[in-house]
Amino acid sequence: MEHDATPSTQRYIAFEGVEGAGKSTVADRVAAHLEAQGHTVVRVREPGGTAVGEHIRDILLDGEHTPVPRAEAALFAAARAHLVAEKVIPALTAGSWVISDRSAYSSLAYQAAGRGLALDDIRRLNDIAIGGVWPGVVVLLHTDPAIGLSRQEVGDRIGNESDAFHRTVAEAFDALADAEPDRFTVIDASRSLERVVADVLEALGVTT
Ligand code: TYD
Repeated sequence: MEHDATPSTQRYIAFEGVEGAGKSTVADRVAAHLEAQGHTVVRVREPGGTAVGEHIRDILLDGEHTPVPRAEAALFAAARAHLVAEKVIPALTAGSWVISDRSAYSSLAYQAAGRGLALDDIRRLNDIAIGGVWPGVVVLLHTDPAIGLSRQEVGDRIGNESDAFHRTVAEAFDALADAEPDRFTVIDASRSLERVVADVLEALGVTT
């Protein structure tokens, strides 16, 4: 027996999007807003967020290693398994919000669409890794990948992939949002930070 019951994931919010969409900044602001309202917030990032996950992050992104696509997908899923077990489930069980930079949906966009692996395989791999605990809400910060990339100062191994790769990833995020409209909220991230944050809070049903 692993877990007695899966907690509600309505307070598990993942921010997604291409490089340079502003995920971290917007997620920080939203987390600060929730905290100011008296909520407990656990702020996490993928890959990483746990001791094992940060080691895996180094292997994935330090540029010294080039895992083959299936290994890349498995490593992201392994890091995610630790994050969900060690941070996400305990936080949700305690009634906290979880605000995450990225989630398994990044693997559906980058490893399935981007690397050309089968979407169903990557979905299943991740479902096993996270024991079915997918974010209840996915905020897709929508921006043109070319603009996002131009905002990035130093890219990591995957961030430095070709423009065509990032365009494929961006299209995959759009397709995922279309396929799961109840879970996804798409926000135009090309506007001011204040507008973007206000829209996200409204979408989450948080009063401002
Ligand atoms: P991140 O730290 O969010 O970088 P950025 O802020 O530049 O978007 O993610 C690191 C990189 O890893 C980024 O290029 C996206 C990629 N990535 C995947 O390919 N698959 C995944 O499942 C995740 C979580 C990230």
